[in-house]
Amino acid sequence: MKIQVLGSAAGGGFPQWNCNCANCRGVREGTLNAQPRTQSSIAISANGEDWILFNASPDIRAQLESFAPMQPGRAIRDTGIAAIVLMDSQIDHCTGLLMLREGCPHQVWCTEMVHQDLSSGFPVFNMLEHWNGGLQWNRIPIEPGANRFSIPQAPELSLTAVPLRSSAPPYSPHRNDPHPGDNIGLLVADRRSGKTLFYAPGLGRIEPHLRPLMESADLLLVDGTIWREDELIHSGVGDKLGTAMGHLPQSGEGGMIEYLDTLAKPRKVLIHINNTNPILDEDSAERAELHAHGIEVAYDGMSIEL
Ligand code: MLT
Ligand code: MN
Ligand code: ZN
Repeated sequence: MKIQVLGSAAGGGFPQWNCNCANCRGVREGTLNAQPRTQSSIAISANGEDWILFNASPDIRAQLESFAPMQPGRAIRDTGIAAIVLMDSQIDHCTGLLMLREGCPHQVWCTEMVHQDLSSGFPVFNMLEHWNGGLQWNRIPIEPGANRFSIPQAPELSLTAVPLRSSAPPYSPHRNDPHPGDNIGLLVADRRSGKTLFYAPGLGRIEPHLRPLMESADLLLVDGTIWREDELIHSGVGDKLGTAMGHLPQSGEGGMIEYLDTLAKPRKVLIHINNTNPILDEDSAERAELHAHGIEVAYDGMSIEL
């Protein structure tokens, strides 16, 4: 399967439009060795033609423009997006659905909890009913033992969904009352090669049920939002702690680096990087530390074949 990173930043992107933190200012002024990044999305295809879009970012329009295989010219109006999978109902993962209205109907896969949010607090399912069939909901199952599914438009792929601890968006009634399925991780396997990807752009706590998936995967694309728990406070942009936002910091005891060190097999790549994270600076000590642990940082346009 082909995996294309369309957007490697967290909500807000990099630089964020209203942010003057050291990273955003540095990349804007050209004084920082860093690449701008759009908001959180990847696409996967088994045949190079039909793509499953994982998350629909507010930057989807620019992301599609920058990746020709997803804009085929087989008809006067055409798209390579065969289906859409949502990992949660966060604004940075779902707003792009509105931008895709001209191509309705779309097959959208998400959990019951995400469908609830997107039919109430952010009712994009209801709104788009008025656009040529709108968004057709396909339920992602998360019940243990019955959590494997296939997407008809990509029969070569087998997907396994696992509920995980991250965070529902601020507009959701589940923000401070977590329910299984608010956020998921996905193991995506190519039935032909047997190769697997574990994708979890929002991962606040690595619970024991994730270990078998993470240690057996060939590739991990996991939460790289923040370097330290108090990063927003430290960079002067906010007061939320990583745990409150549902993102596990990379550094420190119990952090992402420490956990990834315990996994021997997979290629390890961080994704969904917040604009405050020092790893965005390619010359930073933090980036060197990741390198020393064999951990990579995803960038827009990164392409991986498994
Ligand atoms: C998050 O994952 O916490 C988001 O990036 C927040 C957002 O999109 O505003
Ligand atoms: Mn996010
Ligand atoms: Zn910033």
